[in-house]
Amino acid sequence: MNTTNSTAYNYQVVRQFAIMTVVWGILGMGLGVFIASQLVWPDLNLGLEWTTFGRLRPLHTNLVIFAFGGCALFGTSYYVVQRTCQTRLISDSMAAFTFWGWQAVILGAIITLPLGYTTTKEYAELEWPIAILLAIVWVTYGAVFFGTIVKRKTKHIYVGNWFYGAFIVVTAMLHIVNHMSLPVSLFKSYSAYSGATDAMIQWWYGHNAVGFFLTTGFLGMMYYFVPKQAERPIYSYRLSIVHFWALITLYIWAGPHHLHYTALPDWAQSLGMVMSLILLAPSWGGMINGMMTLSGAWHKLRTDPILRFLVVSLAFYGMSTFEGPMMAIKTVNSLSHYTDWTIGHVHAGALGWVAMISIGALYHMIPKVFGRPQMHSIGLINAHFWLATIGTVLYIASMWVNGITQGLMWRAINDDGTLTYSFVEALQASHPGFIVRAVGGTFFASGMLFMAYNVWRTVRASDPVEADAAAQIAVVGAH
Ligand code: HEM
Ligand code: HEM
Repeated sequence: MNTTNSTAYNYQVVRQFAIMTVVWGILGMGLGVFIASQLVWPDLNLGLEWTTFGRLRPLHTNLVIFAFGGCALFGTSYYVVQRTCQTRLISDSMAAFTFWGWQAVILGAIITLPLGYTTTKEYAELEWPIAILLAIVWVTYGAVFFGTIVKRKTKHIYVGNWFYGAFIVVTAMLHIVNHMSLPVSLFKSYSAYSGATDAMIQWWYGHNAVGFFLTTGFLGMMYYFVPKQAERPIYSYRLSIVHFWALITLYIWAGPHHLHYTALPDWAQSLGMVMSLILLAPSWGGMINGMMTLSGAWHKLRTDPILRFLVVSLAFYGMSTFEGPMMAIKTVNSLSHYTDWTIGHVHAGALGWVAMISIGALYHMIPKVFGRPQMHSIGLINAHFWLATIGTVLYIASMWVNGITQGLMWRAINDDGTLTYSFVEALQASHPGFIVRAVGGTFFASGMLFMAYNVWRTVRASDPVEADAAAQIAVVGAH
């Protein structure tokens, strides 16, 4: 235990990111509900080019992944690195720059995407001036994070930081390599790569955005917040090390499973498939490590909805990392690709894993950084938990039904070789599933409104002096 620190942690930047996670979560998921409703009632495209599904869909993905998920990752990593290294962030001004810079990137997305400015590369749509800003912010983030680790007062680097660290390094690499392009005007650039190479680099990026942004970063969160909330040490430190190295070694090869049956060389497709299958092992190793941390503490699930968020997120993580390798098998992919099955898989990971672990972590962290004993209402957290769980189940179940229906209808052929069903017939068959998805999404998004109210009441009731005192105590008592 260290009792000699004179400076408290920098909780200011953690608070800012935490609040913006909730704000962007509401906007991004609200937009998700809107585009889901457009698929039910196409009139909601409103006849305006800015509000069509094609323009708002990438805004949804940017808002939920980079704004909501990104702010959750920035905020929790700054919190975790300070507490586990028992030292303040190396620079307050650099940390503040990452906060404001990141918000500027998001604002850039909100303005440019509906206007139709896009590189057309999925999850990398932002045009070059915004992409450059993003790269600068990200490198600063890396400097703050690793600089803090270097000046740590503890001997070991806690495993959660290894995961956060890998997420930061690999995201920088992916973003910079995939965004190499030739600008022809302020808002238009052309990729430096062409043809199948462009596709390969894009899905090397795209899959590792899933693997490192949507998985490894959130595993860092898992390794800190699950043991903290369960008040138990992590089940196996050795397993966490094996988990880390196996995961980062394998993920980077799996990208070609997004390009089955394309112009990509066949061997590369098969390599992607095999690596995806092997990826099941470290993924489940991590899930089991998180779950088993609850050994002897399972009874807490009855009374602690925050722990429930964290544990159910691990269950969805396990589910989506079982489903993913199956979908990577070429023959399965020939059915699932282009269908709503992929969309269901995405949201099993995005809602069930990414959003639920972030929500659980925030409910744990917010009272601590605002100097309150606990969240304003545990009952509201419980209500939020059920809305999120039911919403996720409705979303993914409806997309499984839709996906398999679409896949089977598209491939059905008559004896004379003509298609049994037209595209529109498959679309009509999908309509009920679209309605159920929109309802599920509404459940999930309304849960976020409960969260916003609960956070607002918690924050409003707080006394900043108490928060500072709590930060001081935290420095003294950090583990
Ligand atoms: C209320 C919650 C949400 C709703 C209603 C919703 C709805 C949607 C809809 C309708 C689409 C387009 C599907 C299509 O093209 O057929 C979509 C795409 C997507 N959403 Fe969400 N979403 C929600 C939350 C999230 C969250 C929290 C994340 C990530 C953390 C996320 C990540 C994505 C991604 C990555 C895609 C693109 C999938 C692909 O191209 O395969 N969504 N979402
Ligand atoms: C072992 C782990 C996983 C494997 C092997 C895997 C595999 C796959 C496969 C085969 C696809 C379909 C590709 C296609 O047909 O186009 C896919 C799509 C996707 N997965 Fe996973 N998945 C895994 C885990 C996850 C997790 C945990 C998440 C989210 C947090 C996730 C998010 C996505 C997204 C966003 C897409 C859609 C990409 C797009 O087409 O836009 N995956 N995944």
